[in-house]
Amino acid sequence: MNNQRLPIRPRRNRKSEAIRNLCRETRLSHESLILPFFIHDKETNETIDSMPGCMRWSLPGLLDEIKEAMAVGIQSIVLFPAIKDELKTPDAKECFNENGLVQRAVKTIKDNFPELSVITDVALDPYNSDGHDGLVSEDGIILNDATLDVLCKQATSHAEAGADVIAPSDMMDGRVGAIRDSLDSASFENVSIMSYSAKFASAYYGPFRGALNSAPKSGDKKTYQMDPANVKEAVREVMLDIDEGADMVMVKPAGPYLDVISTLKDCVEIPIAAYQVSGEYLMIESACSAGWLDRRSVIMESLIGIHRAGASAILTYYAKEAASWLTQ
Ligand code: PBG
Repeated sequence: MNNQRLPIRPRRNRKSEAIRNLCRETRLSHESLILPFFIHDKETNETIDSMPGCMRWSLPGLLDEIKEAMAVGIQSIVLFPAIKDELKTPDAKECFNENGLVQRAVKTIKDNFPELSVITDVALDPYNSDGHDGLVSEDGIILNDATLDVLCKQATSHAEAGADVIAPSDMMDGRVGAIRDSLDSASFENVSIMSYSAKFASAYYGPFRGALNSAPKSGDKKTYQMDPANVKEAVREVMLDIDEGADMVMVKPAGPYLDVISTLKDCVEIPIAAYQVSGEYLMIESACSAGWLDRRSVIMESLIGIHRAGASAILTYYAKEAASWLTQ
């Protein structure tokens, strides 16, 4: 049978590896990946029941792991502390202790690896006996403006310890402006703010709260984290954060919110980060450990999807492994 006269054949651009490489629209690089670390104040590293494959690191363990991660190309990390129960209080004041776990960790990391960019999470949930990101009133209301003062102290203490980027994940109104102002007043005008601008009230955070034992003791986070149904509201949050001085904005979770990332890409001039959260990680891990999906291919496809949607930086528990695949 004669071939069809078919002048336009998209398959020609896929005919070989070399041609596919020329035609590729999006390239994922290890330089885009940010590695999250759970840390605790203990001598040894611990596995995390709610997140198989992830660890809570001791400070010495953390330094060893950072060294390995940097060897495969990781250039940025973010820290999440598991705080001892006896240090959790309703006023969350441990969060700005200059000798607190995060502050000590940042100092040690920057002493050992000055070129690594260290991002710290600013929110009260690991420190707050109520498990909320803000202060809680007696009748259970999450207090916005009173929380800002504590967040500012927390952010400044991270900057004093040497953090390069402060990442407020609390979703209180006005926090980016308040933190910018506090940092500037303390002469930390070069410390950046990566705002969790569009952080949704998501069921995908469950395993993370297990890792830090930070789940809310009562109620949920719906009065501050966003409704998963909304995208215009994400634009509004991002615009506000930009006006208040954010350097980068974040969408979280990532995979179920690719449309949000993509919408923001078209209307925002500053870099967009996205967080592939604990539940997304566990969906992949559980399907792969059952032998149902091919692990490496699925991880890379999930990350390229987030990048293609418009995230220039991706926080992912796969950062070290993916970087090693990308640089090997
Ligand atoms: C809390 C915080 C959460 C995550 C990052 N910072 C959980 C929450 O808001 O309850 C979730 C990350 C993940 O699930 O991997 N400020």
